[in-house]
Amino acid sequence: MGPRPRARRLERAAPIKLSLEAARRDYLSRWKDSSVKTFIIESRTDGDEPIGMATLYDFRNGGCELGIKIGRDDLRGHGHGAEAVELLLSYCFDTMGLKTVRGSTLAHNVRMQRVFEKLGFKESGDGSIISRFDNKRYTELFYERRWDDR
Ligand SMILES: CC(C)(COP(=O)(O)OP(=O)(O)OC[C@H]1O[C@@H](n2cnc3c(N)ncnc32)[C@H](O)[C@@H]1OP(=O)(O)O)[C@@H](O)C(=O)NCCC(=O)NCCS
Repeated sequence: MGPRPRARRLERAAPIKLSLEAARRDYLSRWKDSSVKTFIIESRTDGDEPIGMATLYDFRNGGCELGIKIGRDDLRGHGHGAEAVELLLSYCFDTMGLKTVRGSTLAHNVRMQRVFEKLGFKESGDGSIISRFDNKRYTELFYERRWDDR
């Protein structure tokens, strides 16, 4: 069975282009921000190097926002993102005692939407954003995972 028609259509959308320098500046500024919890993702099966990073931020009203990136293209789609989000949910709910984890992604990012869906997130709305990286307008989808949805 091929990808869903919606997924196929969205796949043709151009990805956001981001220079290595801009990405580095972005990540370093988050490292220095003490209100952001940053996690390095390692894989048991795909080599010794870290494969990605995730952040928990915007802590408010018993919840927080989650962001994640698997660095190398060839390591995406292997289940690492879903496993990392599952571990982060357990950290947020069981260790931090939070009640909600929020997330968002661009409408053409089918993989991230699939990860949210697999982990029980529900779509909670959408919005329009202008990217600070390329100044173009994108549709953003908002997701939410509640502790008591388990
Ligand atoms: C988004 C991201 C974190 C997901 O992590 P990942 O390890 O690649 O994802 P997983 O392998 O755990 O799951 C991907 C799911 O999407 C599905 N998928 C992959 N490509 C797809 C496509 N083109 N269309 C539809 N579904 C697709 C996979 O089949 C899998 O679902 P399944 O387990 O039901 O088969 C990772 O791809 C990434 O870092 N991308 C670049 C940065 C990014 O987009 N970050 C999120 C910003 S909000």
